[in-house]
Amino acid sequence: MSGTVLPWSEKYRPKTLDDVILPDESREKFKELLDNKIIPHLMFFGPPGTGKTTVAQIISHAITNDVHFVNASLHSGVDAVRTKIHDLCRITSSDREANFKVIILDEFCTYTPQAQTALKTLTEVFLETRFIFTLNHIEKIDPAMQSRSMMFHFQRSSKRDLYIRLSKICKAEKVELDKAILCDIINMHYPDIRSCVVQLERCSKGGKLEPLVENTDFVDICNIIK
Ligand SMILES: Nc1ncnc2c1ncn2[C@@H]1O[C@H](COP(=O)(O)OP(=O)(O)OP(=O)(O)O)[C@@H](O)[C@H]1O
Ligand SMILES: [Mg+2]
Repeated sequence: MSGTVLPWSEKYRPKTLDDVILPDESREKFKELLDNKIIPHLMFFGPPGTGKTTVAQIISHAITNDVHFVNASLHSGVDAVRTKIHDLCRITSSDREANFKVIILDEFCTYTPQAQTALKTLTEVFLETRFIFTLNHIEKIDPAMQSRSMMFHFQRSSKRDLYIRLSKICKAEKVELDKAILCDIINMHYPDIRSCVVQLERCSKGGKLEPLVENTDFVDICNIIK
């Protein structure tokens, strides 16, 4: 990996819970789970770029070395559950101390209803496997799957916390802070934190922030038809 230049949205993916912008109640609840060193099945839902995958990774790696990340959108059919996911569940946990494994099923709302039913069965049979489901569209999830999981709604974070985080990134990247531009970025992309970070990187040129150009396409079209 050395020499790879990561986009800022990856470079600044939080590594600890304290680093994640979260409501206090959720942070406390997550810390409680970590203290217990065991988790129920967890379901993280909400809009894009709010920290679902990040928290799933932090929590799972904090409690077991046996973590499997599955992009559900690439394995969304019932056959994938009966083969790939079943095989992962079947194998005894490689973490002898924790004695269980975590499977992160990212983008779980791409699962077909049949695949969700098949998965429901796996959660009942393989008690040493805990799932963390991350998804955008909760309405696509079987209520029976929801009732088997502890639910967390990732939604609108504090704009103040977001401002502080973007300021820290500017400092780390030696980019001069411009409050008005940071506020414009937040207002344009909130609550999507990923998009804020992507936009921040785009606006950063030669150690300074360039103002946002809104509706570029619209302006271009107006110029063409003038
Ligand atoms: N709550 C947060 N606190 C700090 N940074 C965040 C947070 N949420 C998102 N980010 C930034 O956005 C990036 C993507 O976050 P993540 O993958 O966790 O989003 P997601 O909620 O899983 O989105 P999607 O629904 O699109 O999968 C992170 O690497 C980080 O840079
Ligand atoms: Mg995600």
